[in-house]
Amino acid sequence: MSWWECVESFSLGSWCDYLSDKERWLNALNPKQFVAEQTEEIRAAGGEGRALVALSGGVDSSVVAALAHQAIGERLISLFIDDGLMREGEGPMVVEAFAELGMSVQIIDRADDFFAALAGITDPEEKRKAFRDTFYKTLGAAVRDSGASFLLQGTIAADVIETQRGVKTQHNILEQIGLDPSTYGLHILEPVRELFKPEVRQVAQELGLPEVISQRMPFPGPGLATRIVGEVTPERVATVRVATVIVEEELCELRSFQAFAVLLNDRATGLTETKERAFGQIIVVRSVESEDAMMATPTELDWNKLQRLQERICAEVPDVTKVLYDLTPKPPSTIEYI
Ligand code: XMP
Repeated sequence: MSWWECVESFSLGSWCDYLSDKERWLNALNPKQFVAEQTEEIRAAGGEGRALVALSGGVDSSVVAALAHQAIGERLISLFIDDGLMREGEGPMVVEAFAELGMSVQIIDRADDFFAALAGITDPEEKRKAFRDTFYKTLGAAVRDSGASFLLQGTIAADVIETQRGVKTQHNILEQIGLDPSTYGLHILEPVRELFKPEVRQVAQELGLPEVISQRMPFPGPGLATRIVGEVTPERVATVRVATVIVEEELCELRSFQAFAVLLNDRATGLTETKERAFGQIIVVRSVESEDAMMATPTELDWNKLQRLQERICAEVPDVTKVLYDLTPKPPSTIEYI
C-alpha cells in the first residue's frame, strides 16, 4: 500500500510506520514533474470552461491558484473572500502580491454573513461547522454567479489526516466527513491534497512564487476564529487582530512555524493606568516550531522578548490585564485554540 493510500484508508499502523512511509513517499516527489502533471490534470478537468479558486494568500491556495493560472490562464477566477476573520491588511496584500504575478484577484466582502453564522456559538466544533457552512455557501453562490464549472482548493494532507483522526474538522474537508460537495453546487479539485507543508513550499518555489507567499506562515481557514475561545464577535476579532499584529512584528525575525495571539474567554483582575481595579481580558501568545503541523514544540523565547510582548500588548490592546505564553507542545495540545 502506498503512503497516500495508507493515509486515505487511515490504517496508519504505528506513528513510526506512518513517518517512514511518508519519508519514502516524499523522496519521490519531483516538484517540476508535479507541476507538469497537475497543470495537465487541471486543464483536462476544466475543458474549455472556467474555474474558480478561493485564494487566502496562504501558500496552499496560492500554489493551487498559480498551477491553475498556468493551466487555464484567464479562464481562472481568483476570489479573496473577506470573512471578517482575516489578519490586518491581508486582502490588499494578497491582491498586490498576485498583481505582480500578472493575476487579478477580486475581493468580496462577506463578513456580515460569517458573523451572523457565528453569533452565540461557543463550542469549538460548532464554530468550525458554522464557518465551513458559510464558507461553502458563499463559494457555491460565487461559482454559480461566475458560471465556473469547478472549484479549486488548497486542501493538504495534514488537513485530511487531522479530520480523519477526529482531532478537528478542517474547514476544507467535505467528502471525508460524509458531506457531498454537490450539496453546495460544487465540483471540487484539490491538486495539493497529497502534499505536506514543506512540499507545498517546494512546489511554490518551482512555480516562482515570491518568498512572502512561499514561506508564509500557515494561517487556518477559519482565520482568527480559531484563536478566540468563546463567542466570535466583531469586537473580539478586533482585539485579537491588534494583538496578532504585535506578536507578528515582535517575533517575525525568529521565523517560527507559527506565531500568533489568542483571546481567552475568561477575565482576570488587574489595574488600570489610574490604579483602579479592572476585570480585563486575557491574551495568550503562542509560537511553535514544527515541520508539517502534525507535531509541534513551543519556541524557546528570550525573557526580554517575552517582557516586550507583555508590555506592548497591555499598552496597545484595550482592556487587557493578563498576557500569558503557551508552553504546550502538540500533542497533547493542538496548535490553534479551537
Ligand atoms: P491544529 O490546531 O489542528 O492545527 O494543531 C494544525 C495546522 O492546521 C492549521 N489549521 C487549519 N487549516 N483549516 C485550515 O486550512 C482549518 O480549519 C484549520 N484548523 C487548523 C493550523 O493553523 C496549523 O497550521
